[in-house]
Amino acid sequence: MTEMNDMIGSAKVEARSISPTQPATCLPDGGAPARHVPLLWGAGLAFAGGALTAGMLGYALLIEPMDIRLERLTIRLPHAAARLPAGGLRILQLTDSHFHGGRRTARERKKIDRIADLTRDLEYDLLVHTGDFIHFDAGLENVLRLLDAVPPPRLGAFGVFGNHDYTHYAMEEALPRMWRTYRAEERRRDAGRNPVQRLAAAGTRWLRYVQYVRNTPLDGRRTGSNNTEALTVALAEWGMTVLHNRALHLHRPDERLDLYLAGVDDVLEGRPHLGDSLSAIPDGAPVVLLSHNPDIIASPQLPYVDVVLSGHTHGGQIVVPFWGPAHTQVEYLARENVSGYFRQGRTHVYISRGLGEGIPLRFRAGPQITLIHLTA
Ligand SMILES: [Fe+2]
Repeated sequence: MTEMNDMIGSAKVEARSISPTQPATCLPDGGAPARHVPLLWGAGLAFAGGALTAGMLGYALLIEPMDIRLERLTIRLPHAAARLPAGGLRILQLTDSHFHGGRRTARERKKIDRIADLTRDLEYDLLVHTGDFIHFDAGLENVLRLLDAVPPPRLGAFGVFGNHDYTHYAMEEALPRMWRTYRAEERRRDAGRNPVQRLAAAGTRWLRYVQYVRNTPLDGRRTGSNNTEALTVALAEWGMTVLHNRALHLHRPDERLDLYLAGVDDVLEGRPHLGDSLSAIPDGAPVVLLSHNPDIIASPQLPYVDVVLSGHTHGGQIVVPFWGPAHTQVEYLARENVSGYFRQGRTHVYISRGLGEGIPLRFRAGPQITLIHLTA
């Protein structure tokens, strides 16, 4: 026993004696023990990662949402040559201002000032706002301030409502609600799977949930509504007409202008009826349609429309490198068409990224206003 204790004792002594005798070549210049080197690298990488994340978050919160650009687009309508003025028709599109008022007032006024700078001395024919004027009723004051900030249009101002003009949402509840919906659907599917298929499905569940969220409008719980009557009246008093499932004939024979401007109610929260919007328009007349939600492109009436102007998507709002828009908030739009111009059959479609946002973050989907030039 004593012999064993001696052995254990000597082993302990031997073990303790190993560390001090590590070769000097393992000590870094500063004298830190070698085992600290990976720790230092890890701490350095964690710090760099944290700093990068904080920098990107700061940029997405404070810089990009404020960096509004004035972009220009020309759309050619050769078949409408006899109905467009010789110099074409210029439309200034605002959309998705999402004004909250309250604590966001100062930030929103900086955006309005920026738009005033961008549009100073701009000459154009029509001012349009394609919805989500407000996030909350308290944002109305800033809507009127925005309209005052741009030069007055030569021929008139028109708008349509978006889903946020009608409804408040608890967006922080969207992902858990969508997880519950997704899991219920998964359980239903699991019932028809054999054990091997269930195992395989479990392995890809999270990946498929991410895809589901990416391709489905966010399901925020409805928590209240805005006063659309007050919004309509305030806009009318300012001089902007809301085109609620109807069209107006823009007819100026002296300057060869003869086209229809139509508007459709919001796809998600309104009562959209494109048939009603277009019902008074004669065959062959050129039609420009205002629709907050670009999902209107799924309507069978779309071929009767020459140009659709939309917003709603915010250009994905957060566009992840090598992955694309985090979210599109639409069902029928191809992901690559989340913003900008494209053709859907004979119809020209333009989707603006908008000038505001509900969650005040943008990354690689900067805010914009657009001057659209319709010409033959
Ligand atoms: Fe919006």
